[in-house]
Amino acid sequence: MVVKLREPTIPITEIEQSAFCRTDDELKAKTLEEEFSAGVRWQKLPVSYMRTSPEVLDQRIFDAKKKLGSRLVILGHHYQRDEVIKFADLRGDSFKLSQHAASQEDAEFIVFCGVHFMAETADVLSSPEQKVILPNLTAGCSMSDMAATDDVLDCWDDLQSTLADDGGIVPITYMNSTASIKELCGRNGGIVCTSTNARATFEWAFGQRQRVLFLPDQHLGRNTGLKLGIGLDEMIVWNPFKPLGGHTEEELRNARVILWQGHCSVHTRFTVAQIEQARAANPAVNVVVHPECTMEVVQAADSNGSTEYIIRTVTEAPAGSAWAVGTEISLVNRLAAENPDKTVFCLDSVVCPCSTMYRIHPAYLSWVLDGLNEGVVVNRITVPEETAEYARVALDRMLSLA
Ligand code: 13P
Ligand code: SF4
Repeated sequence: MVVKLREPTIPITEIEQSAFCRTDDELKAKTLEEEFSAGVRWQKLPVSYMRTSPEVLDQRIFDAKKKLGSRLVILGHHYQRDEVIKFADLRGDSFKLSQHAASQEDAEFIVFCGVHFMAETADVLSSPEQKVILPNLTAGCSMSDMAATDDVLDCWDDLQSTLADDGGIVPITYMNSTASIKELCGRNGGIVCTSTNARATFEWAFGQRQRVLFLPDQHLGRNTGLKLGIGLDEMIVWNPFKPLGGHTEEELRNARVILWQGHCSVHTRFTVAQIEQARAANPAVNVVVHPECTMEVVQAADSNGSTEYIIRTVTEAPAGSAWAVGTEISLVNRLAAENPDKTVFCLDSVVCPCSTMYRIHPAYLSWVLDGLNEGVVVNRITVPEETAEYARVALDRMLSLA
């Protein structure tokens, strides 16, 4: 048993969250130099890129992309800024982007406008000759940072020694985790999931063994367990800063789902009070939220689902309907612009983008594309094959469930 009595640390990405919060919906890109003045610590790049206006960068990205032609594919997550997502050849949520990454056979370069764990996944699923590039290496994810690989390995060892003779346990990791954690899942009969297929992966896992370890988002794990009829008293939270996660051996044996103590700093901002306020202002409003929100918010909402689910729901809704949306603001603003016949707004009136998705400023995209045109590959993401092999096993299990 590993004894740990460390103090928890708050990921820097979570502290940075407030740097770009506004009370209006104006999130237009400024020069990178101006954005740095908020005190953030992003990857350094040549000063000429820092001072170039977003309008000039826009033309340069367009030209550089054209020059690279079919050698390049740009993948973009829906939470990217407008000035960046407009250049994506393929857009998606985490699940759709993993499918896109696996099917890009021709492109020499895959530039991933998203966050680090997504680029790692693209590298694992693409062929060895293809080069995956993350424009800004500091674009991580605060939730992923909450599951340090060593802590997860310690947890897995503890669970093995406590539960191995007692029905066993399947590790499921949310896509939002490092490749090493995906590897641990692949090696130990586990699987990766996204918010699109969390329920299917739970069902698959309970067909294998009696319990599930769910990493690293306790809220997605709890919300999925509840959808399957698992009681709150059968789900416990593993605190990596306490011995045995803060539980007795008996509590671990009685649990059906062990939830890692992690959360998304964007989706946990939404509250039941915000939902009540939206309904008080317009009783006909529909509330749709992402399942990374807390259980209370998910239960108070009218519906919940992955980012693609939210897009589909709002897009297919009748003209004149009103939608209060509990997810990342860049996407909500885009949905509002693309659905002018409906009222679409963010549940939270204080507008906070995902601080790490926001780190992909157009200056970084311009910099990496110029590099490729000059024969220089900057910011390549490579997962060593010894890690990739079993991470791929866990990812392929997920892709074959879909
Ligand atoms: P999806 O892309 O699966 O909806 O997840 C949202 C998210 O927070 C990505 O980091
Ligand atoms: Fe991570 Fe949440 Fe940002 Fe997604 S939205 S990248 S889970 S912090």
